[in-house]
Amino acid sequence: MNRNTSHRITICTSCRNKGTTCQPGYELIDHLRKAMEAAGDTISGDFEISGTACMAGCDHPCTVAYHATRKASYLFGDIDPDDDIEALVDFARQYAVLHDGWCSSVDRPGKLRTSTLARIPATIMALEETAERVS
Ligand code: FES
Repeated sequence: MNRNTSHRITICTSCRNKGTTCQPGYELIDHLRKAMEAAGDTISGDFEISGTACMAGCDHPCTVAYHATRKASYLFGDIDPDDDIEALVDFARQYAVLHDGWCSSVDRPGKLRTSTLARIPATIMALEETAERVS
């Protein structure tokens, strides 16, 4: 298994709970950082967790993205700061050891099976360009 220390989890800080002015992104960042630290393994050192403004999933607050160099990226929606932290930590463990980051919905934990807004392949163009140079 190849671990990459450049994994990132990005959480939207602009998302508003439907019908309210509440923006739970910072609460989600805080809960996730604490849960990653409490996980008791090396996973927290493998991930940087940060916030950003809108990731264009506004109808599905909160949105959370996982990304890393040479790995597929994911955007999840409808993430609850109280109910979905365990699934986010479990997916971090899973994502850290997937060499290309690719996995099927049935393999993802908890709500992440059904709340995927996007799964974007790793930089295929760069990989194809490298293959051409080799041949
Ligand atoms: S406001 Fe959060 S994705 Fe747009």
